[in-house]
Amino acid sequence: MTIAIVSDIHSNWEALTVVLEHCDRLGVKEIRCLGDVIGYGPDPVAVTDMAMNRFSVSLLGNHEEALVTGKHRFNPYAAQAIDWTRAQLHSGSGITRIFSNKGTNQDRMPWYRERKPFELIDRHLMVHGSIYDPVHDYVDEPENPVEAEQMIETLEQDFSGFDICFAGHNHTPFMATKVGTFFPHDAHNSFVIPKGHKAYVCVGSVGQPRDNDPRASFATIDGERITFHRLRYDVPTTQKKIIDVGLHEFLAERLGEGI
Ligand SMILES: [Fe+2]
Repeated sequence: MTIAIVSDIHSNWEALTVVLEHCDRLGVKEIRCLGDVIGYGPDPVAVTDMAMNRFSVSLLGNHEEALVTGKHRFNPYAAQAIDWTRAQLHSGSGITRIFSNKGTNQDRMPWYRERKPFELIDRHLMVHGSIYDPVHDYVDEPENPVEAEQMIETLEQDFSGFDICFAGHNHTPFMATKVGTFFPHDAHNSFVIPKGHKAYVCVGSVGQPRDNDPRASFATIDGERITFHRLRYDVPTTQKKIIDVGLHEFLAERLGEGI
């Protein structure tokens, strides 16, 4: 059974719909989301409604936490966007009405207050951040032999009760294992992790990739095989919406560059 793991959609309707259409083509049976459904982007209501309807798991990311608590250490662009998002979700006034069984005036905030920081299913741990802090911490790719050794220690000592940890938050797709760190690319995007082996799988970001590749990123798992996917979407439309709703132009510009 193919399961999709998505993360960091950040209210990007154009990116999300391209990913969902591709999941349908792949015969994906279940979609799990690692958090940050909202924030930064211009379509929080439509994206929230889709998340509520399509995701079997949707975790608490740091943007969901900021949304419901009002507490964060965001830069001014992210702070403005989360305050704007909160107002949109309270009123329900969305650009797109997706599901006929939900009125546009529905308050989506109660759904966000119920989000959990992690989920464990079949020896797969799902977090937004890392195993040490599932909401805020970043999984950084090892950049030198010392960091690589530390990552292996983490996998061997701290991955107990689960084998694979799926993480988001860093907006960069890669996989860290005992034998090395792998950055997927178009010519090599599928990996087998034998049963019982430990791995961090960072799935990248659907709606705001930061690895200098603007295409939407997510992963699928089918048995022992993990496949990373990159998909083009209509970036100019999302950029225009960001400007039109009054969010900062930097949030639009970065989508075009994948930064
Ligand atoms: Fe994020």
